[in-house]
Amino acid sequence: MSPVVVLVGPPGAGKTTVARRIATRLGLTFRDTDLDVEELTGTSVQDIFVEHGEQHFRALEEQAVATALAEHDGVLALGGGAVLSDASRALLREHRVVFLDTGMAAAVARVGLNGNRPLLLGNVRSQMKGLMDHRRPLYAEVARHTVLTDDLDAAGVVDEVLRLIEQDRA
Ligand code: S3P
Repeated sequence: MSPVVVLVGPPGAGKTTVARRIATRLGLTFRDTDLDVEELTGTSVQDIFVEHGEQHFRALEEQAVATALAEHDGVLALGGGAVLSDASRALLREHRVVFLDTGMAAAVARVGLNGNRPLLLGNVRSQMKGLMDHRRPLYAEVARHTVLTDDLDAAGVVDEVLRLIEQDRA
């Protein structure tokens, strides 16, 4: 079993929104590893960071990624930091991964609308720059396709991902 598509990208890329819409369009189920971790632990991602630290969250996330890739046959969104794990990247290379590439301005504007991201407290702009510089090569490493989201709304990103899935299947 394998997800039809796996979405990766920085916080603010729109992974969850886009994954939900793609699932609806294809009549598939949607899954998100952040939600899987929250369900498993009964704790919010934010509280896991505060109470147990980032490393603990990353271990839970790595397990959630492996489980979802093995069990889920719908649409999967990963937390923005899932690609930090070598083990997860090795698994992801075997799947149809789409990188929702998002420039600084758009990502900062989008996370500004939803402030409960533990890694982006304080100066969101400088945190986001550090995060993007470090992670862009990791997203690119696992991605079969990349969609530049800056000039697209969510519907446009959904259409582009659906087009790429169709193209792969043709
Ligand atoms: C994180 C992104 C979050 C969540 C956690 C850590 C990150 O997911 O997994 O707060 O390291 O980029 P989103 O990308 O869905 O915001």
